[in-house]
Amino acid sequence: MNLHTYLLAKFKAALTAIGAPEDSPAPLSRSTREGFGHYQFNGAMALSKVLKQNPRDIAQKIVDAVDLDAEVEKLEIAGPGFINIHLKPEWLAQQLESANADSRLGINPEQQQTAVIDYSAPNLAKEMHVGHLRSTIIGDSVAKTLEFLGHKVIRQNHMGDWGTQFGMLLAHLNDKLAANEVAETALSDLEDFYRAAKVRFDNEEGFADRARDYVVKLQGGDAQCLQLWQNFIDVSIAHSEDVYQKLNVSLKRSDVMGESAYNKDLATTVSELQASGIVVESQGAQVAFLPEMADKNGNPAAYIVQKSGGGYLYSTTDQAAIRYRNGVLNADRTLIFTDVRQALHFKQTEIVARNAGFISEQQTYEHCPFGMMLGSDGKPFKTRSGGTVKLAELLDEAIERAEALINQRESDLSEQERKIIANKVGIGAVKYADLSKNRTTDYIFNWDTMLSFEGNTAPYLQYAFARIQSIFRKAGAVNSHANIQLQEVQEQLLAVKLMQYVEAIKQVSTEATPHVLCTYIYELASLFMSFYEACPILKEGIDEQTKNSRLMLAQLTSKTLQSGLDLLGIETMDKM
Ligand code: ARG
Repeated sequence: MNLHTYLLAKFKAALTAIGAPEDSPAPLSRSTREGFGHYQFNGAMALSKVLKQNPRDIAQKIVDAVDLDAEVEKLEIAGPGFINIHLKPEWLAQQLESANADSRLGINPEQQQTAVIDYSAPNLAKEMHVGHLRSTIIGDSVAKTLEFLGHKVIRQNHMGDWGTQFGMLLAHLNDKLAANEVAETALSDLEDFYRAAKVRFDNEEGFADRARDYVVKLQGGDAQCLQLWQNFIDVSIAHSEDVYQKLNVSLKRSDVMGESAYNKDLATTVSELQASGIVVESQGAQVAFLPEMADKNGNPAAYIVQKSGGGYLYSTTDQAAIRYRNGVLNADRTLIFTDVRQALHFKQTEIVARNAGFISEQQTYEHCPFGMMLGSDGKPFKTRSGGTVKLAELLDEAIERAEALINQRESDLSEQERKIIANKVGIGAVKYADLSKNRTTDYIFNWDTMLSFEGNTAPYLQYAFARIQSIFRKAGAVNSHANIQLQEVQEQLLAVKLMQYVEAIKQVSTEATPHVLCTYIYELASLFMSFYEACPILKEGIDEQTKNSRLMLAQLTSKTLQSGLDLLGIETMDKM
């Protein structure tokens, strides 16, 4: 059950009972300070103006009216009229027992919405690089969270697989194939391939013309040219898929809906925009003028959907994508994960699409921006020689570093076990370092911090999880239908935290912010560690009932950690 929603409903009923207006604010929050209860209701102050009564008197009336006898130990009025809510340990224990007995941890599916999630979206002309890391892992985690909450998620990998830069690439590829190279070998390093093609484009007599020729042929649907392009795209997608697999990301080939998929819709899209009068001709181009986004002199922003030569743009494809997602896929929500530099583009895109009726009033269009990944010098993350860092290489380094760390630790794990663990720890560390930061800010990439076994890191959480599994191994079978008793403070704090898992993932789903879940899991693991220190489980002298109750708490903690880490795409292990 969602504790917050549950309590809130009770307080809202109490407000009605004391004659508060229908839409009175009902602020209910988790208490942040120990001793102030578990939740706090702060509705009395705002009501005091409306009802013209002293806020403490109103608080008292709310306390008298609210129907929480079974759930609450005491309701305490503090300060100007805060109501501190202290939950009953027995009631909490019952909730935990039923959560532990349920495969969904007591979390009911929400009323289903269709969410289109546009993420990863690398540009296929080049190797996937660190810039796409954030989109890929943040988007994937939000996708998994929405699915867990019962929504229908449609992943859309809006890959950059079209555009004029393909002309030079295809001309170059054509020559390689003519010289009897196979595409896979020629394209084994896309970055090198791109560079070589660019050198020829800039320097080689006649090459630039051939490249332009290819663009024309490609757009004209020339069969041989399309074949070459398809060849290029296939190899390039396979490169991305290697990375997805390494990253334990759920994107599949069938989720690819690249820019090229909308080619056939672009002309219609533009004519629909013209027909509704949103787009007009200006200097030969097709443009939407947006007074909503005027500059400081009052000139409306110009949003171009077709160039004067007839060529289409990134924006045209995005309009076509909206037509498809909102009209055909019936998306209730669309979430797009790119870096913040595209924020203006998506704002304008939304305005145009709403004006055109491509997005209906009930449908959302949510650009979820993220900041940059910086090196330790605070500048954009680069290799030592200043080049862009390839994702695949970065991930290999993560695994190597994790392996070195794990080999330093004493353990009776076999070589092979250690390799598997190193893989999960290395990849987990890179992903978690990213996921745990508020996505809207830049963040500094630092190997030592992310691989530390202390603090808010993947290794710390994976270790906490493994530690609980070792308790279970020592305990033998755990009776998952024992009674929970919450006697010690640490047990109660852990219990309330366990109840709040659903609140954390709910927030991730509405705000597309996985860091909220990371913070939650970290706090949960930390509370478990303090509980475990203060409340021995398997020590001699612990009576059977206490032991079983604590084992149940450990079990629910373990399941919750597992579920949360799954949603983040971080793998766990039983031994570490
Ligand atoms: N390929 C683009 C890039 O790398 C991201 C695409 C995002 N999605 C979209 N619908 N425009 O910048």
